Amino acid sequence: MKGCSVTIKGVYKSFGATPILENIDLEIKKGEFFSMLGPSGCGKTTLLRCIAGFESLSQGSVFLGDREVTNLPPNERPVNTVFQNYALFPHLNVFENVAFPLRIKRSKTNLIQEKVRHYLELVKLSDHLNKMPNQLSGGQRQRVAIARALINEPEVLLLDEPLSALDAKLRHQLLVDLDALHDEVGITFIYVTHDQQEALGVSDRIAVMDKGKILQVGSAFEIYDQPANAFVAEFIGETNLFTGQVDMVIGSDIMVSIDQLGLLKITSTISVLPFSQVTVSLRPEKITLYHRLPLNTQGPVFRGIVEEIVYAGYQSRIYVKVGERLISVQQPHVVGAGSDHFSWKEPVFITWDPTSCRLVEVASP
Ligand SMILES: Nc1ncnc2c1ncn2[C@@H]1O[C@H](COP(=O)(O)OP(=O)(O)O)[C@@H](O)[C@H]1O
Ligand SMILES: [Mg+2]
Repeated sequence: MKGCSVTIKGVYKSFGATPILENIDLEIKKGEFFSMLGPSGCGKTTLLRCIAGFESLSQGSVFLGDREVTNLPPNERPVNTVFQNYALFPHLNVFENVAFPLRIKRSKTNLIQEKVRHYLELVKLSDHLNKMPNQLSGGQRQRVAIARALINEPEVLLLDEPLSALDAKLRHQLLVDLDALHDEVGITFIYVTHDQQEALGVSDRIAVMDKGKILQVGSAFEIYDQPANAFVAEFIGETNLFTGQVDMVIGSDIMVSIDQLGLLKITSTISVLPFSQVTVSLRPEKITLYHRLPLNTQGPVFRGIVEEIVYAGYQSRIYVKVGERLISVQQPHVVGAGSDHFSWKEPVFITWDPTSCRLVEVASP
């Protein structure tokens, strides 16, 4: 496989006195599809620009493979970037846009022919060689930009929110194609997005960022199932967060006293001390909804009222009011079952397995 690893060690970056990146440590593997996910303004673009060499670091170092590139200019790094806004040359046709980096290098004409055709085929644009950028759709323009970024055969392709200007359906299609393209070219992809669906869909691993820091690195499943803190739990999909105090610890069973809900049993892999303040995350799909008081359940049972139903095709999100709290429950639509129908203001019961709860914040007493 081509491509190289990317190692970022102790990177800090400030603009003036404002810290933008703080103590970033990352090891991105050779050939990996790696995403950086975080809200707008958290420092994703700045971090990409540090890897590409467009920004100097305030502190720290960047390695591509075994080679330190911290002080190398962008054109001496085997890296290329695809930006959010196509950045094509409007006066050049598709072929010449993609050929441009090779023309600069004064490559031989038949090599240019061969390579441009190859990369345009990879991005499925072979039929559009002679079109001008303004004759292309947004998705096609972005494919041209990707082909142009690949033509110098970089070890690492950096993609900065490349789909954000496209509509939802096109975004999905291009993401699937990008995944296939990654398999085909085999180099390292670093993909930046604020959209968790995009990141969860294609990445081998994801770094979740907020306010210039990396909060967690892991596979989509790991960060969804074992979020490192409350921010990650809420940023990746919807969740219910409960805060309370640990009352009792019996082995892996923790009793937490939660405001308005009372004592909650949680089976945790993390050990905590009694009297710790904790935050518990419980995903909506882990909660089961009943019309009548369920018998033989292992978990806690709460009585509530259906406050809101949000229909979303194959499932509904049902908000159940328990005391003063609104709890989000994901209810699948079972074809032909009939009994899964819940109505507004209906009294219901909810329950869950204590092993479904995750401790996402712990402040020791
Ligand atoms: N050249 C710059 N000068 C000063 N501040 C900047 C500059 N570039 C980015 N910033 C600031 O750095 C922060 C992170 O920006 P950015 O890396 O673009 O975030 P993201 O890509 O995650 O939206 C923002 O607060 C932004 O205003
Ligand atoms: Mg950005």
